Amino acid sequence: MWSFGRKRKAGDKIDIPQPLTINHGGTPEEARKIGAKWAETFELLGGLGPDQAILDIGCGPGRMAIAIGDRFDWRNDYTGFEIVRDDVAFARRTISKAHPTFEFVHIDAYNVQYNPLGKVEPTAVRFPADDRSIDFCFATSIFTHLFAADSAHYVREAARVTRGTFLSTWFVIDEGFPKAIEAGTSRFGFPHRDADGVAYEHADAIAAAVGHDWSAIQRYFGDAGLSCDLHRGAWRGDGKGARHSQDIIVARPR
Ligand SMILES: C[S@@+](CC[C@H](N)C(=O)[O-])C[C@H]1O[C@@H](n2cnc3c(N)ncnc32)[C@H](O)[C@@H]1O
Repeated sequence: MWSFGRKRKAGDKIDIPQPLTINHGGTPEEARKIGAKWAETFELLGGLGPDQAILDIGCGPGRMAIAIGDRFDWRNDYTGFEIVRDDVAFARRTISKAHPTFEFVHIDAYNVQYNPLGKVEPTAVRFPADDRSIDFCFATSIFTHLFAADSAHYVREAARVTRGTFLSTWFVIDEGFPKAIEAGTSRFGFPHRDADGVAYEHADAIAAAVGHDWSAIQRYFGDAGLSCDLHRGAWRGDGKGARHSQDIIVARPR
C-alpha cells in the first residue's frame, strides 16, 4: 500500500486504502484486480486506447483511473467526477499529483446511499466536459444506484459529451428475469418497485442495488440519440461466459 510518508517514484503503483475501497466493495487488492479486468474490457468492448479523452462518471476514489493509467501508460486525458468528497480528495492528492492529465472533479449531487446531504439534484448535474469532446465515456456501477429521471438525464449528458463510445453497466430486467428467479440463479430478486416502476433490492437501502426494465433503458438511449448494444452479465446466473457481474451497454451516437 502507498505510504504517505515517502516520495512517490516513477513506476510506483497507486493503491486505494481500505477505508475508501470498502465503499465500493472489497479490499485494495480486489479493487486493483477488478479495475485491471475492467480496463481490459474497455479496450475489448469499447475500443479504448492510449491518447483518447476519457470521462468517468461516478469515479469513486479512482479504481478505474488507476487501472486505465497502468494499462495505457498514463497517456490519456482523463476526467473523473464523483459525489463523495473524500474520494475526490484522495484521487487528487495521489493520482493527479503523479499524473496531472488525470483530473478529478467533485459534484455535490444527492444520492441517498452515497451522499445523503448532497445539495445538487442529479437531474441538474452537468458533466464536466464539452459537447462531443470525449472518445470514451463510461459509468461502472452508477445506473445500479440511480432511479428513472436521474438515469435518463445521465444518459442524455453522456450523449452530449461523447463523440466515440459510451459504456455503462446496469442490472437489466427483461423477459429472462422471471425465469432466473424461478430457477433460483439470480443474485437479486428486486422485489420492490418505485412509483416509476424502477426495481430495487432493499427496502431500507433503496439505492444500494437498482434494476431497470430493458424497455425503459432502450427509451433513455433512443431519446438521447444513442445506439444500445447489450452484453449480458453474470448476476442473473444466465449470462454464459460473462466477464463481469453487471450487464454492460455499449452505445455510440447514431
Ligand atoms: C459502486 S461505486 C462505483 C465507483 C466506480 N465507478 C468504480 O467502478 O470503481 C458507485 C459510485 O456511484 C457514485 N454515485 C452515486 N450517485 C451518483 C451520481 N448521481 N453521480 C455520480 N456518481 C454517483 C457513488 O458515489 C459511488 O462512488
